[in-house]
Amino acid sequence: MTIIIKNGTVVSSDNQYLSDIKVENGIITEIKQNISDDSAEIIDASGCLVFPGFIDSHTHFDLDNGFTVSPDDFSTGTSAAILGGTTTVLDFATQNKGETLTEALQNWHKKADNVSSCDYGFHMAITEWNNNVSKEIEEMINKGVTSFKLYMAYDNLRLSDDKIYEILKRVKEYNGIVGMHCENGDLVNILIKEQLKRNNSSLIAHPLSRPNYVEAEAIARYLYIAKLADAPVNIVHLSTTEGLEEALRGRERGQEVYIETCPQYLLLDDSNYNLDGFDSAKYILSPPLRKRNDINKLWEAISKNYINTIGTDHCSFNIKGQKDMGKDNFSKIPNGIPGVQHRPVLMYTYGVCEGKMTNEQMCSLLSENIAKLFGMYPKKGTLSIGSDADIVVWNKNHKDTITVEKQSHNVDNTPYEGFETIGKAEHVLLRGQHVVKNGDLIIKNQGKYVYRSNKTFI
Ligand code: URP
Ligand code: ZN
Ligand code: ZN
Repeated sequence: MTIIIKNGTVVSSDNQYLSDIKVENGIITEIKQNISDDSAEIIDASGCLVFPGFIDSHTHFDLDNGFTVSPDDFSTGTSAAILGGTTTVLDFATQNKGETLTEALQNWHKKADNVSSCDYGFHMAITEWNNNVSKEIEEMINKGVTSFKLYMAYDNLRLSDDKIYEILKRVKEYNGIVGMHCENGDLVNILIKEQLKRNNSSLIAHPLSRPNYVEAEAIARYLYIAKLADAPVNIVHLSTTEGLEEALRGRERGQEVYIETCPQYLLLDDSNYNLDGFDSAKYILSPPLRKRNDINKLWEAISKNYINTIGTDHCSFNIKGQKDMGKDNFSKIPNGIPGVQHRPVLMYTYGVCEGKMTNEQMCSLLSENIAKLFGMYPKKGTLSIGSDADIVVWNKNHKDTITVEKQSHNVDNTPYEGFETIGKAEHVLLRGQHVVKNGDLIIKNQGKYVYRSNKTFI
């Protein structure tokens, strides 16, 4: 199958230029003007931007949080992803207590294989650490899992500092990378208790129990542990000014520190916790939404290229039957929001169109940097000869509004309800297959597991 994308503006991390792109057998084979081939399917990209397929390195599909399961599974989650222009997701395979990493990886393959509509890989979230688990790290790397995730909060998931130190050292032996959910779990627990004692039933109790310093302390501690272990680190879903300052301090000390933030920390503030009744429940996620000042600081960090990646932390829960489990106790509301479909259009509308991000930065933050950090570059994350033909033809003029009715996420809410948007993934190619045509997903379930190697960042 040969496809030629004609007359688009091809975007890379440092350039944009008018060109055609030829795709043969799933691979990009030519990039130049005036390519012709009578047998090829032609996609007219005149007036459009052409991006490498976007990559979301932070999704939680089909996640069992111990009380309920997130309703977006790999089928619905990856369909929503590719409709928005995301051609690869990295989800968090999570080790249940008592399980080996091998079993956890098998569980996630069972969830994702044959039902995914975009390509996918897994980070491995380690929740139990001992000699046997340590021995499995090499096997994980050999199976294409080169990144790991740990939690400093959530009692059923978090690990102590000594274990974090050991894991960092072990993963470093294989040049892997460890991402961290940075919140001080002990402090979160005591602050929740304080709020409950005061009978604070308003959902503002959620951010009050997870203030900025809870994140900053965890980031500082994580970075000092990593300094002792002499290991690189990835900080996921960074949300605060104070956390950012700690991360930059680590870099000043000479540490290799990667930073991810998410659209919600760039677009939504904590005034959403003051809504009437239970309406704020859809904004319950951790870390929580922050103040305008933090939002401004994160945009400034983007303009200075301090932030490396933007992922969604997509973890959807219905209000009805799931979030409402916490109607009488805010700490029982399942944490998480949807977003995998909307990340590109939100960043285009509120980043590029508002002059806070260039097209090139959008390419880096949503695709190229992620491919490099997680060992997929240059197969993914770039429009280059020999790369996978994961390609998004981006209509710059399409105007729309996000609503729960129109979203493809399998959930009854969106925190972006009523957000006006500019831009659209008009056509999407997944390894050369034209899967999204004029904005419709016409071929499903073509996603394949991505065997990843080590990072090529820095
Ligand atoms: O509230 C959130 N973010 N839930 C998903 C799990 C996590 O913390 O990343
Ligand atoms: Zn997290
Ligand atoms: Zn997450």
